[in-house]
Amino acid sequence: MFFIMFVLSLIFTGVSCSKDDMTSFNVVDFGAVDGGKTDSSQAFLEAWMAACNGEIAHVTSQVIVPEKMSFLVNPVTFSGPCKVKNINFLVFGTIIAPDSPSNWDEQDASEWVVFKTVSRLMVGGLGTIDGRGKGWWDQSCRGNPESKGCTKLAPTALKFLSCNDSSLRNIFITNSPQTHVLLHWSYGFVIDYVNIQSPESSPNTDGIHIHASHHLAITNSRIGSGDDCISVGDYVSYLDIVNIYCGPGHGISIGSLGSSGNVVQVENIRVINAILNRTTNGARIKTWQMGRGHVRGVTFENMRFISVKYPIIIDQNYCDIRGKCKELDTGVQISQVLYRGMYGTSFTDAAIVLNCSRVVPCYGISMEYIRLTPAITERRVTAECGNAYGQEFEVEPGPCLVQIKDGYKGAKSMAASPNISK
Ligand SMILES: *[C@@H]1O[C@H](CO)[C@@H](O)[C@H](O)[C@H]1NC(C)=O
Ligand SMILES: *[C@@H]1O[C@H](CO)[C@@H](O)[C@H](O)[C@H]1NC(C)=O
Ligand SMILES: *[C@@H]1O[C@H](CO)[C@@H](O)[C@H](O)[C@H]1NC(C)=O
Repeated sequence: MFFIMFVLSLIFTGVSCSKDDMTSFNVVDFGAVDGGKTDSSQAFLEAWMAACNGEIAHVTSQVIVPEKMSFLVNPVTFSGPCKVKNINFLVFGTIIAPDSPSNWDEQDASEWVVFKTVSRLMVGGLGTIDGRGKGWWDQSCRGNPESKGCTKLAPTALKFLSCNDSSLRNIFITNSPQTHVLLHWSYGFVIDYVNIQSPESSPNTDGIHIHASHHLAITNSRIGSGDDCISVGDYVSYLDIVNIYCGPGHGISIGSLGSSGNVVQVENIRVINAILNRTTNGARIKTWQMGRGHVRGVTFENMRFISVKYPIIIDQNYCDIRGKCKELDTGVQISQVLYRGMYGTSFTDAAIVLNCSRVVPCYGISMEYIRLTPAITERRVTAECGNAYGQEFEVEPGPCLVQIKDGYKGAKSMAASPNISK
């Protein structure tokens, strides 16, 4: 079914311009060599520059990576702004990364393929981007904390930095050394029909990570990896995550936020229609105690959990080594979070955990129509809340929130919120 969706989507989105106002630049014409053994980065860059600086303004240029071919590409940055109005980067074949970390010797170890300051960019094409991350995973500190030569930083397969009004569509991304797709400083970005797959055991391989970006959508995508399927960073607003299949992985996570005491501003995030299959978390918000700022206006709606360890979780006492962080008098204020229509099974007893900050409690939490049952028969599931204020209706297990009518000392911040009684 996924394949049919991919094809339909390509028909509707990929072929929107007539041939006449489109100029194509095939990487092979610029010297790229099929077979995945010869470094073709220079050819890719030249094709990009030709497309980006196309003579005629107001047209769409496209870089073509032809089908049934495979190209080895070293770390490379495709920069804009471009002279053409729209630029497509169409991967019909396969792009593969160097197979050893030593190929990054002189280069920034956080990057492989980067698109930078390009607007109206579309990356797509039904092809594959293979980060061949095994060499990185094997030396990762996450996997080998005892090892002296272990590395914390590994390349992100695809980075989009300052790419406005752009999209990533119909593509298969696999085996990234670390995060698969990163969006940073981008306004108006759509990720649609993307399939991301890496082994469950691969360290820090987030599917999609978003930071400092606004007005975004991630839709119709399938993600399985060794870390969060989708994670949302400190300064993100107006993000819709719709029709997502996640698993294996750590779930869909807002956070971790505020890791170095910075100010968090996360607003208007919606996660609608998601299946989480055997993931660690389901709907998660996690913040570091030293963080400041706020998370507000979050909706998790219509989510199905299959044997998820912590289906609904807020962890405001997040700490890399659990229990090892000192309690602080700071915290990120979480408010106006709606959970509605959440069904399925919990692998641990802790089906609902809202572990909010003692200093800045969570308020305006609404839970409606939730039914979580044990994945293992004869177990039971619980709801545990701390410093969490709001209301709930038809929630099982429950109740757990402190009803808002009981009030709490932080009434000042509650008064500022418009939507607590219903
Ligand atoms: C992207 O859009 C934002 C908001 O409109 C703007 O501030 C920024 O300069 C734009 N970036 C680029 C690279 O055009
Ligand atoms: C959940 O994952 C398991 C193991 O990969 C798979 O067999 C099962 O079909 C999945 N369930 C759904 C609903 O996709
Ligand atoms: C909540 O956070 C506190 C402080 O870190 C911790 O001791 C407690 O175990 C957490 N509770 C849950 C249910 O995770």
